[in-house]
Amino acid sequence: MSDLESLVSKYVKKILITEDELQTRISEIAEKINEDFQGSEPILIGVLKGSVYFLSDLTRQLELPVSVDFIAIQSYGPAAQGTGAVKLLKDLDEPVENRDLIIVEDIIDTGLTLNYLLKNLQSRNPSSITVCTLLDKSVRRLVPVEITYRGFDIPDVFVVGYGLDFDQKFRNLPYIGILDIDRMIKDYYG
Ligand code: IMP
Repeated sequence: MSDLESLVSKYVKKILITEDELQTRISEIAEKINEDFQGSEPILIGVLKGSVYFLSDLTRQLELPVSVDFIAIQSYGPAAQGTGAVKLLKDLDEPVENRDLIIVEDIIDTGLTLNYLLKNLQSRNPSSITVCTLLDKSVRRLVPVEITYRGFDIPDVFVVGYGLDFDQKFRNLPYIGILDIDRMIKDYYG
């Protein structure tokens, strides 16, 4: 058993979304984006690091002349969530004025990160901003946000895999699994 397999067998309770289910849904989203953005050259903005796997599979199915750029944001822990404190860690490389933007997220939980991002990008005068997220934990939303493309609505569980991590681990799983977060915290942080 590899080191990753033994971590998975100990801490991943269940597979929530299989590799096949992910890829099928991503194809459906790509098809919609291809239709909706005909004649446009959108910039896909990946929110680091969680969105990289989704962005990579999604863009390979787009039949549009897209650009890709990345932004990194740090949201402060649960204690600070009520304040919506968010910090920009890495900015985009290119200007976005008069361009159609598609924000690509791994998961939208409270909506605080996305809310910050939308305001930040809006101030740069793009032509449009559209939100595309693989996962939506809508039951936990604190700030309403408009989502145009949504892969899966999921319950209030902590998920890992396909870009999503716990303490930087599990991102490279090809599926989305439910983490036994209590056990992981107990074992790693006492
Ligand atoms: P929000 O600002 O509460 O919407 O938080 C979004 C960010 O929280 C995501 O980009 C993830 O980094 C993180 N996050 C929220 N839920 C999960 C989860 O179940 N697994 C892994 N990361 C999560």
